[in-house]
Amino acid sequence: MGKRERWRSRIGVILAAAGNAVGLGNILRFPSKAALYGGGAFMVPYFIAFLLMGLPLMIVEWVIGRYAGRHGHGSMTGILGLFFNHSNWSRILGSVGVAIPVLICMYYIYIESWTLGFAFLSLFNQIPAPVVSSDPHEAVRPYVSFFKDYTYPSILAYFFLLITIAINWVVLQRGVVRGIELIAKVGMPSILLFGIFLAIVALSTRDWAGVEGLKFIYNLNFSRITDPTVWIEASGQIFFTLSLGMGAIAVYASYVRPREDVVKAGFWTAGINEFIELVIGASIAIPAAFAMFSAVAIPELAKEGTFRLGFMTMPAVLMNLPFGGLVSFIWFFLLFLAALTSSLALIQPLIALFEDEMKWEHSKAVAVAMILVTIGAHFSAFVPHFIDELDFWAGCVMLLFFGLIEIIVFIWIFGIDNFYNELKQNCTIKLPKAFVYVIAFVSPLFLLFIIYFWVIKDFGKIIMVTESTKIIARVFIVLFLIFLSIIAVKSRKIILRDLRYTRIIKNKEP
Ligand code: TRP
Ligand code: TRP
Repeated sequence: MGKRERWRSRIGVILAAAGNAVGLGNILRFPSKAALYGGGAFMVPYFIAFLLMGLPLMIVEWVIGRYAGRHGHGSMTGILGLFFNHSNWSRILGSVGVAIPVLICMYYIYIESWTLGFAFLSLFNQIPAPVVSSDPHEAVRPYVSFFKDYTYPSILAYFFLLITIAINWVVLQRGVVRGIELIAKVGMPSILLFGIFLAIVALSTRDWAGVEGLKFIYNLNFSRITDPTVWIEASGQIFFTLSLGMGAIAVYASYVRPREDVVKAGFWTAGINEFIELVIGASIAIPAAFAMFSAVAIPELAKEGTFRLGFMTMPAVLMNLPFGGLVSFIWFFLLFLAALTSSLALIQPLIALFEDEMKWEHSKAVAVAMILVTIGAHFSAFVPHFIDELDFWAGCVMLLFFGLIEIIVFIWIFGIDNFYNELKQNCTIKLPKAFVYVIAFVSPLFLLFIIYFWVIKDFGKIIMVTESTKIIARVFIVLFLIFLSIIAVKSRKIILRDLRYTRIIKNKEP
């Protein structure tokens, strides 16, 4: 078996995993969803989903990732194979867990490139001057048309897309330690610093009027506790923000040393992510918008999508401040750093697949992975609604199902006792066995509930589409799944040959 890389330091492991989880989801998606689904009313299902599903699955992925890494596998194709003697069906099923992050990356990296582009444009004062108006629609208008022109896509947008792809390529080529770990060590502290700065700016605007926005998010209440949509959205956000249900955490965990304390690492990852989401993410976009515009305008503005708040409302607010261009630069650069540490994590599963299963050498694995991502990113840039369709299928539906599969395989098939023994190894925090029972029974029930309500609610409406662009996106997803399935089956022979080989060597030993 080829030697796999190992994270260099414990702090490096934690920062890389935190970089994986902390992304656009924390700073853009979270405030938009919270505003859209009633602030405090959204937070109740959110916290419940975090405790019953998010935290347990985070620990599962860390424990399984370390276990799989010891056996030379990092991608879900290899990991699921590991539990079923590398049968074809298990490896094909595992491929879904490689497809999800890569499909997400195909649009995520395009959005990442906007943040880089807008950061540069802010720095060089190339974004529109603010309009002074108390009507949010008036104030935001120049930024709306600016955003539309930019993402049409303009030549500039295409240029920054290529730059962003190149940056990801270079970092991944440098590998787990010299690439991903290094970027995380520099990126995470910067994210924290910029985030705290912007939070203070946003909250203090107009004599601390921004605090009203924070109160809106934390005004916990049960008014929408019976609305399935709020539950689905809150659970979807938990999966998305923690990077769960797609083996992205497990891939990173597969590069730890065999003795790493993965339970601690799991708690750290979830803890840092939630800090940046609940403290920093909650304190920037919504409070800034509250301070500038009336409170009634916020759900209104959030309704128009995640991009509305981050790319149109925020510059409209920030450009009004002293040194507006500079503050706006810090905002978009913060988003870029958060997105970069996540996009690296979205591509690594595919690289691990090529390296661990196909036994390709590193440069070839990175090159093929990046070419595939680049092709997908072009679809995202040039096919209308491709982003929405991919986000819906890969970023929501497939994720919930794969999360369920992870629990079934890693807890039920592997066995509660086996899993608990694996979890206990080298862990300083002694989790009670009851925790594993929660993972085994409560989390899947919770997931099934969510899926059930979602299906009865709008499955029919979703399946029936006539728009050609949506059909293109779906055909693309299916073709990509077929491609990964072929890899899964072809690489099986390589893995089995290796296994036979090591067995022969072992038998020869006296
Ligand atoms: N967690 C990331 C965010 O908050 C997005 C994400 C979802 C992700 N799945 C992932 C990142 C897998 C890396 C790997 O923006
Ligand atoms: N304080 C920890 C120790 O040395 C260091 C650490 C931070 C750590 N995060 C971790 C160790 C995660 C293991 C896993 O024990």
